[in-house]
Amino acid sequence: MAINIQRIGHVGFLVSDFERSFKFYTEVLGCTLTHRTKRDNGSETAFLRFDEDHHNIVIATAPPGTDVSIDGQPVRLIQQIALEVENRDEFFRALAHLHERGVEPVAGPLIHGIEGGGNVGGSGSRSFYFLDPDGNRLEIFTDGMKVPNGEQFPRAEYAEAMKAFSHA
Ligand SMILES: [Fe+2]
Repeated sequence: MAINIQRIGHVGFLVSDFERSFKFYTEVLGCTLTHRTKRDNGSETAFLRFDEDHHNIVIATAPPGTDVSIDGQPVRLIQQIALEVENRDEFFRALAHLHERGVEPVAGPLIHGIEGGGNVGGSGSRSFYFLDPDGNRLEIFTDGMKVPNGEQFPRAEYAEAMKAFSHA
């Protein structure tokens, strides 16, 4: 008996400036608001969605004294949150959309894997990374390979060729 998890349903994190992050996730990233609540102490929570799920991203006011702002540090507790888009067109639409709003990639656009000069373990996805207002690293990607039914990755039938053409 195993736990058969299908995917990550949502991620939630604390933000240093709720309004600033709310604007970023709704107006810049284009999330749809499902539900927003404000408590007596002024702290807020918003449940945001991409499509039909009730929520995919939750943002909540960080309690006073919690260190969630980037404050000059290059790394955050959240290493990354990766957001998948349908295809290459949508990938470049997202890149253009963010660029028009002054949000530039901190890495990429690139391809993970040997096609992009990386190693054989890469998924082959097209990808770029950018930061939210608190410095959390977000990724937009498309076309990552699947690893179906417990198969090995890379598949034996082309693992040797991948190694031969790997530059990493
Ligand atoms: Fe990633």
